[in-house]
Amino acid sequence: MRAIDWVSESAPNPSWIRLLDQTRLPNDEIVLEIRTVDQLIDAISRLAVRGAPALGVAGAMGAALALQNGSAETATEEIARLREARPTAVNLAWGVDRVMRSFDQGFDAVLTEAIAVRDEDILGSQRMAEKGYNLLAELLPEKINEGLTLMTICNTGSLAAVEGGTALGVIAEVFRRGDLTNVIACETRPLFQGARLTAWELAKMGAPHQTVVDSAANFITSQGGIDAILVGADRIAANGDSANKIGTFSIALGAQYAGIPFIVVAPESTIDVETASGDLITIEDRGTDEVVTINGKRMSPAETTSLNPAFDVTPAALITGIVTDARVIRPALGQQPADAL
Ligand code: MRU
Repeated sequence: MRAIDWVSESAPNPSWIRLLDQTRLPNDEIVLEIRTVDQLIDAISRLAVRGAPALGVAGAMGAALALQNGSAETATEEIARLREARPTAVNLAWGVDRVMRSFDQGFDAVLTEAIAVRDEDILGSQRMAEKGYNLLAELLPEKINEGLTLMTICNTGSLAAVEGGTALGVIAEVFRRGDLTNVIACETRPLFQGARLTAWELAKMGAPHQTVVDSAANFITSQGGIDAILVGADRIAANGDSANKIGTFSIALGAQYAGIPFIVVAPESTIDVETASGDLITIEDRGTDEVVTINGKRMSPAETTSLNPAFDVTPAALITGIVTDARVIRPALGQQPADAL
């Protein structure tokens, strides 16, 4: 099932957005019927739908939902709130802005554009899988035939897109081609996207995998057990600095120490040339509760508060390659996303 899709109903029944509730995985596969923009904003805030490409599609489809349900005036207000529902992944605002260019032509035109965003996302995942595989074959020509052990963090697979995904999409391609020995999935505290969602996707594929606590990752890499690290991105600045799930910067440093490739996989829509460098990216802080509470049980004293940055920024110099649906950029060699395609 797709992580997100538009469900067309025949008039007079209103259409709606179908989401797989990612907060309930891997134990329950619950479908959410999203019929209002407020429900969509709530789903985005709770991470029922998450991952940069999926958020782009959510932004585009949410704008269509707003126009279906109300006047141009009410839709404008709702779409502005939707655009701000999460700040770091540029894809959400990108998806909204893309379909808003058709806003004056009305609902049908906006919906057509939103469906195009969905379909391009599926195609983009296929292209990233192919380009990412080819880059691994180029960087690790001998090892790829022996079988690769790859590390990743967070969830960047079909749940983070419509289907396919970014970094995990490349890993799935390595598995399909028979070149995967193992995947080390960082658990991804505080919300366990790695241990819950990436492990769920790999298990469904039948791919070999193990989870590790985030703090074990660099030790394992330093022992020589990892051939390459692949991650996604939520926003890539014009100079190649890349924001992704908290913990990514740390494993990039581990990759540099071990001398292995560190590869970012993201669609072109994640590149934000308006943001010159990573220090200008807004990092979402999700508050204390997610850090001090596990399965409803508070782990820290009542008076303890947390810092909870949901993302960090990996400097361009640590990134061997950025694989998009259109190209491969080599930031560590001085290439920048802002350079011409
Ligand atoms: O907070 P999340 O779960 O939305 O964070 C998602 C990530 O950091 C992903 O790695 C990123 O969006 C790339 S998804 C293909």
